[in-house]
Amino acid sequence: MHKIAVGILGASGYAGRELCGLVSRHPGMELAFAAANGQRGQRARFGAREITFVAPDDVQLDAAEMVFSALPHGASAEWVGAARTSGAKVIDLSSDFRPGNNAAAAPYGLTEIMRDAIAGAELIANPGCYPTAVLIGLAPLLARGLVRPGATINVNAASGVTGAGFAPKQELMFAEVAEDFRAYAPGNAHRHLAEMNALVRELGGDNDILFTPHLLPVARGILATITVPVTESIAEPGALWRQFYAGEPFIEVTDELPSLRDVVHRNVVRLSVHAAANVRQPTLVVIAAIDNLLKGAAGQAVQNANLLLGLDERVGLPS
Ligand SMILES: NC(=O)c1ccc[n+]([C@@H]2O[C@H](COP(=O)([O-])OP(=O)(O)OC[C@H]3O[C@@H](n4cnc5c(N)ncnc54)[C@H](OP(=O)(O)O)[C@@H]3O)[C@@H](O)[C@H]2O)c1
Repeated sequence: MHKIAVGILGASGYAGRELCGLVSRHPGMELAFAAANGQRGQRARFGAREITFVAPDDVQLDAAEMVFSALPHGASAEWVGAARTSGAKVIDLSSDFRPGNNAAAAPYGLTEIMRDAIAGAELIANPGCYPTAVLIGLAPLLARGLVRPGATINVNAASGVTGAGFAPKQELMFAEVAEDFRAYAPGNAHRHLAEMNALVRELGGDNDILFTPHLLPVARGILATITVPVTESIAEPGALWRQFYAGEPFIEVTDELPSLRDVVHRNVVRLSVHAAANVRQPTLVVIAAIDNLLKGAAGQAVQNANLLLGLDERVGLPS
């Protein structure tokens, strides 16, 4: 099998390290370079493979047929442009080219929903971690026009601390997060909101999302609880999701309540759907769990890369 030469920018961060591990084990990929900034020159081990992170300026972009950018938003766009100029296909994990963030947005890499646009693209905007859980949870209702027009969709979601990146922050120190649980970015101002609202519009809804993120004292994983006003009572709501995602290798619709244990270290969205009792308007509650570093970042990026390269989407991914 011809191995695709892959470069990783931001390889020393949490998403980048996850990418290094996936690419090192991928039967159709080989690592051309792994770039870091402050951690340049440092070594890291991924299974049997040891990698030395190179400085961004020492990267030979044209050595890669495919580049993953796991750089912070703002810094990513320029490197993505340079990688495209050198002829590489690019998957950008930052928000720089996502809908709602850039007037010239790239095709959005929410794989199960956007497959047709992804397959022929040269640049993919990989979705944010929270938006992956929320939009996979909402898509079946939006596709069938079942979300009550104009209603607000309420999302409460909690993420482990790797969601905040590798750079040290006082509020993320062990003693600050352990045995505690708190909301952040209240007042519907989180950076991921623009992307979620843009996709709700694209999928046919005219709804606002009211999104409140929380910080969970675990390393990885997101659990999102999505409350959706619907146009009619739905007797067996899970059936709609099962039908919509039939045959999808990375979507699990379950009658049990999803939890982080079910999804961490796996490239899946696991979700359950419940009709809400004791409210006057028909309302559904969707609960979705993902690993923020896999289905919410590096795993979905490799899934999209497989699609771009004409490989089986599942290759190299833990299901
Ligand atoms: N963490 C998640 O759960 C998650 C999920 C989905 C998407 N994302 C997105 O993925 C990207 C990476 O997130 P992360 O959490 O992995 O962040 P991170 O842990 O802070 O890593 C950032 C990476 O970028 C490098 N870097 C920072 N500034 C740079 C610059 N000016 N020039 C070159 N390299 C630079 C860092 O290098 P050094 O560490 O060596 O300085 C590191 O390798 C972000 O855009 C984020 O929004 C993250």
